[in-house]
Amino acid sequence: MDEKIQNRYAFSIDLIKQAGNIALSYYLNRNELVVECKKGDKQDQVSLADKTVETIIRKAIAKQFPEDGFLGEESGYAGLDNEFCWIVDPIDGTSPFLNGLHAWCISIAVLYKDNIVIGMVFDPLHNELFHAQLGAGAYLNNSPMHTINPAANVQDGLVGLGMSHRVPPDIILPFLHQLLTKGGMYVRNGSGALSLAQVAAGRLLAYYEPHMNCWDCAAGMLLVREAGGTANNILANNGLLNGNFVLAAANRQVYQQLDLMRILQ
Ligand code: IPD
Ligand code: CA
Ligand code: CA
Repeated sequence: MDEKIQNRYAFSIDLIKQAGNIALSYYLNRNELVVECKKGDKQDQVSLADKTVETIIRKAIAKQFPEDGFLGEESGYAGLDNEFCWIVDPIDGTSPFLNGLHAWCISIAVLYKDNIVIGMVFDPLHNELFHAQLGAGAYLNNSPMHTINPAANVQDGLVGLGMSHRVPPDIILPFLHQLLTKGGMYVRNGSGALSLAQVAAGRLLAYYEPHMNCWDCAAGMLLVREAGGTANNILANNGLLNGNFVLAAANRQVYQQLDLMRILQ
């Protein structure tokens, strides 16, 4: 089994870098892109860049591992019950991408029998590849990465927040109020996948978002856990198809502090 995972790990490192470079060339010419809105939400956009990058990734996987399933944000799913299933967000942070901001990335995860066994997030603008394999630790390019100091509490760093119009504003406001009241502070960069990678890299203390889809966060959740942090199970309650809340923190103490704020709304 390890060999099958290893093969997919090595393959995805090359694939995510290729996909990232293609996304980067779209980014550098983003003024030429025609932008569409999804489901009438003007903040939820998509362009040819998202669709082309996903098609390239999906075709490459189908050629190399035809027996594997696939779930992608732009092209849907097939073979979810197969032994291996790939979960892909071709561009996470589409809004920053289209607006010329810097927080966007490619996110690829691999499921093996209901466990996330590979998680990769690539930030082409900064040439940073965050990657992890279940049980083998997490890396930023070639260096091991670890979450912030295990003794940290909610006042000791920045908490990334995410929000979309999939959930009502009332869900996030009480959380924000409690975070600030307890002496914490937040940032929102517009890419949940990259924010989770930043938790794993020890740059953010934690990340919370009331609802994310699996393609936004499956890779990032494994990165955080393999870097020594704590994260909820995105796959619980049919999360693979419906998504879930996302809470990932540098350590168990910060996780519990934020989880209380999340529950006591
Ligand atoms: C979004 C980003 C954003 C998060 C949203 C996601 P997209 O993904 O991760 O930070 O708050 O929940 O939908 O649309 O840029 O791929
Ligand atoms: Ca996304
Ligand atoms: Ca996306």
